Amino acid sequence: MGVRKRIVTIDGPSGGGKSTVSRALAAKLHFTYLDTGAMYRAVAYHCREQGIAAEEGPQLADLLASLRIELLPPLPGGDDVRVLVEGGEVGQALRTPEMGMLASQFSALPMVRATLTRLQQQIGAGGRIVAEGRDTGTVVFPDAAWKFFLDASPEVRAQRRAAQLRGKGETVDEQQLLAQIIKRDKADRERSAAPLQAAADAVILDSTQIPADEVVEQMYAHILATSCCR
Ligand code: DC
Repeated sequence: MGVRKRIVTIDGPSGGGKSTVSRALAAKLHFTYLDTGAMYRAVAYHCREQGIAAEEGPQLADLLASLRIELLPPLPGGDDVRVLVEGGEVGQALRTPEMGMLASQFSALPMVRATLTRLQQQIGAGGRIVAEGRDTGTVVFPDAAWKFFLDASPEVRAQRRAAQLRGKGETVDEQQLLAQIIKRDKADRERSAAPLQAAADAVILDSTQIPADEVVEQMYAHILATSCCR
């Protein structure tokens, strides 16, 4: 095995608690949190604004060639990474379930994946990153020192996502949310470009019965126990 980078990857389906866990683990390790899903959401948002459909073509190629996405740490008291597209902050419009569905469509396009994978690799070049997404352990950072795959039952994921959205003051139809989660996971798992799957060397955790802080503790313990030999 070659030298592994001091990078942690956390992949898994939507709503499995990845964001909460990744943020907390990054803070504990003093690493930077890289929310790759926010980048796919930013592309989807920007394309929708520009009237570009989720299919490969010269318009999308042009947009990607000059695309400027920046990620900034959350504001004090805030949770979400702030996303700037072409210098303008997008805000909560990125975080809706609809934008998640649209991001999933754009994320199936190899052109989009190539652009964002390159950008993510640039951000992670110096290591000390906790990257969260669908393919961070398999494609983006295959030489990451620590890889996790975080799963949970669709019902529990829908409940958690509903609670999160209600916390932001939104009205939520939980059945509809569950249907969206199942549909999006199926699309993410079955696409041909970098499908959602656990890396062969990932530690697989199921958070259905375990609260997020305990998942963080398990990951942290694993990292400490193995950091001498990675
Ligand atoms: O993690 P999220 O819900 O913010 O991600 C939104 C969509 O982006 C997800 O349905 C699939 C896509 N995505 C991806 O294909 N690869 C990643 N590394 C991260 C997200």
